[in-house]
Amino acid sequence: MISVMTDGCGREIDYVRISVTDRCSLRCIYCMPEEGIRSVSHTEILSFDEIERLVSVFASLGITKIKLTGGEPLVRKDIAVPAGRLKRINGICQVTMTTNGIGLAKQMEALAGAGINGINLSLDTLNPEVFARITRRRAFDQVMEGFYAALQYPQIPLKINCVPMGIPERNVTELAVLAKKYPVHVRYIEMMPIGFGRQFQYCSEDTILENLVKCYGPWRTCDKKPGNGPGHYISFAGFQGKIGFISAISHKFCDSCNRVRLTSQGFLKTCLQYDTGADMRHLLRGGASDEEIRETVRTAIMQKPVSHQFTENVKEHEEAHTMSQIGG
Ligand code: 5AD
Ligand code: SF4
Repeated sequence: MISVMTDGCGREIDYVRISVTDRCSLRCIYCMPEEGIRSVSHTEILSFDEIERLVSVFASLGITKIKLTGGEPLVRKDIAVPAGRLKRINGICQVTMTTNGIGLAKQMEALAGAGINGINLSLDTLNPEVFARITRRRAFDQVMEGFYAALQYPQIPLKINCVPMGIPERNVTELAVLAKKYPVHVRYIEMMPIGFGRQFQYCSEDTILENLVKCYGPWRTCDKKPGNGPGHYISFAGFQGKIGFISAISHKFCDSCNRVRLTSQGFLKTCLQYDTGADMRHLLRGGASDEEIRETVRTAIMQKPVSHQFTENVKEHEEAHTMSQIGG
């Protein structure tokens, strides 16, 4: 029997983003402090067995899509093995991953073998110096190795995610070249005022589009959009891939939100901006039955907030975690 789960506003929730670690191999200035975040002990992080059990419960409720995120998911050893196990759960149609690309070159073959359905590569610039400034690591070449490794698997859709910030616009438009030269989609994500992101101004979709038009000429909207998220896409003549925008601030998309998040410590987070949700780790480790877990998930999702209020000054229940702890 196929179930469908809706929240209190009637939105269908079929997608869970799972953070498998809050550790990361980079230190992006809008996401983490230089010294990294206090690393939690292994016992505080959900084991893959625990994640697998939760995903089977989610699947029985109508969740069909899983995204593995971090921190950096590839920091967790042999991630392809649990990714493959999640894929085999009845009802799960898609397991995808968001990665910063460090270590991707080595693991891409195993991920492809595990049946991964898509890779989102976070990359903010094509300039190695700017990259080092943003990520505090000289690792641009390693990330590009990951990019080329992923390109070897044309059956696995590849998207580049860029969060533009106060770096010269030129670099942002440069990134679109990847969608011209290769069959990949390049997406611009407006910086959200979460964690260290609060210190930076977001760069709006309109500003980026203006600059893209100067470089690449007129654009067309795309009716068919790749992926299952809130992005909307355009195309430029001669491009192999599309250009996407995920504009949580200038084009709020909460009314079509289809997702919840699971933090690496097992908290089911129902909205990016707030700390509302349910502690799954406590349930799992307290010996709860599948039915009890299901009931807690249903209740948390019924109470999913209607929308974020990033542009207002909300303090109540506001998220205190960094993006690396939430997983984007
Ligand atoms: N706003 C938007 N995106 C962010 N990311 C990290 N911090 C923020 C923020 N404040 C992005 C990263 C990566 C993904 C996991 O989340 O650039 O693409
Ligand atoms: Fe790591 Fe991604 Fe945060 Fe950069 S944005 S520090 S790559 S989790």
